[in-house]
Amino acid sequence: MPTQKSKEAKEPTAFIIFGVTGDLARRKLVPALYELALEKRLPEPFYIIGFARRDWDVKMMAEQLKSGVNEFARSKPIKADVLDELCGMMHYIRSTFEDEEGYTRLNEKLRELEIVNRLFYLAVPPEDYPIIVKQIGKTRLGKSEKGWVHIIVEKPYGQDLESARELDAQVHRVFEERQVYRIDHYLGKETVQNILVFRFANGIFEPLWNRRNVDHVQISVAESVGVGSRAGYYEQAGVIRDVFQNHMLQLLALTAMEAPVAFNADAVRDEKVKIFRSLRPLHGKDAMANTFRAQYVAGTVDGVRVPGYKDEPGVAANSVTETYLALRLYVDNWRWAGVPFYLRSGKRLPKRSTTISIHFEQVPLPLFGWRNMAGDAPNTLTINIQPDEGMTLSFGAKAPGPINQIQPVKMEFDYEQTFGGEPPEAYERLLLDCMSGDATLFTRTDEVDCAWTFTTEILDSWKKHPVQYLPVYEAGTWGPPGSDNFMRAAGGHTWDNPE
Ligand code: BG6
Repeated sequence: MPTQKSKEAKEPTAFIIFGVTGDLARRKLVPALYELALEKRLPEPFYIIGFARRDWDVKMMAEQLKSGVNEFARSKPIKADVLDELCGMMHYIRSTFEDEEGYTRLNEKLRELEIVNRLFYLAVPPEDYPIIVKQIGKTRLGKSEKGWVHIIVEKPYGQDLESARELDAQVHRVFEERQVYRIDHYLGKETVQNILVFRFANGIFEPLWNRRNVDHVQISVAESVGVGSRAGYYEQAGVIRDVFQNHMLQLLALTAMEAPVAFNADAVRDEKVKIFRSLRPLHGKDAMANTFRAQYVAGTVDGVRVPGYKDEPGVAANSVTETYLALRLYVDNWRWAGVPFYLRSGKRLPKRSTTISIHFEQVPLPLFGWRNMAGDAPNTLTINIQPDEGMTLSFGAKAPGPINQIQPVKMEFDYEQTFGGEPPEAYERLLLDCMSGDATLFTRTDEVDCAWTFTTEILDSWKKHPVQYLPVYEAGTWGPPGSDNFMRAAGGHTWDNPE
């Protein structure tokens, strides 16, 4: 992260939020901009221009966003002068996304403010992406004579391979690839970035990071929340589109990729793409055998009784949308040939926990007797992405006593204890990077294409082999028994469930 202001520092910059009246602006974007303002990292002067349909004016917009900052900002207490200054630079354009006249007014506003650099943020439902991009192109808003123009596109980037390609074609009619920043907020998380630092800034792990020493890898994104009011979207998405195609495949790529030739956007993304290209395709029966889906029913999470998925508002009575997905895949390259990667994610699991764990091979000969060697080898490296950010290495040690009883013990690194405080919010880093033209933590067109290619084959196979219902699990449990059987069946492994 740059410690000094970037060279654009004195260039008037506009952060234009399409859909500013929505939740994202209030919960994430403006609180992140506030944190950047606190740290004096924003370009100067910096304007936030909202563009939306709702009958708001700039006063209303500022009030709403201010309350968002008060509620969601990371640094408390709020510094009123910094927040007032940020809100004092706001403007609101009320318009539908179709109406060309709205874009003309936006253009006039940019001219009046003598804006040099412009960042468009699509904080709108995905069906609105194409029309906004088209109107930006038509009204020549996407051109700036003196400065840069970037566009941030939120997820979901397409629903499958075909729709993602179509969206890409629409975006590329107006923007060059170097201007497009596809967001995957997992890449903005400190601990996700730390995967690469951990792997490539230390000499001792890399020699072990391969098929000769690793037995299997587990990547788990567990959530305790349910779908809440998002059923309209979730029914069409399921875990596979909501979390697997984007966040989980990104975690996989960072865990499995080779060292890039440099730490820059192209080099890092080149290596990630190679991983996606090496994924052994899961089609037909392979997709059915290597995936396990389930759905939550009513249960208790954190001591609170919660409804089942089918009781959530907007969910079809006969829904077969998965709220839990476990998947086994292989990265067919020299480093990883034959090593199973188990990925799982679910809603309404007992706790929120995202981890990556590398399970190392057993020792070749059990000197201390088989009794001590039952189950997985004791050497596991766990990267805690969230919460309790940090890392744990477990190994076997002799428990005190007259017999050789081996017990797994842990060496831990705790992010908060070491660095103090919570890590910054993903959006802070991502917005700053986008403004300084660094796309390393954003997904590139070929990456998205490869991730959808792999995912769409699974979706096609599920479509070809329809099910009437899915196995169920009680909310507040780690999935149905079938998910444990799924894990055991291939290699006798068990899921790492956090305590
Ligand atoms: C979002 C999904 O992309 O990621 C949500 O749409 C999910 O369903 C969320 O809850 C998880 O993100 P985080 O940062 O809370 O782990």
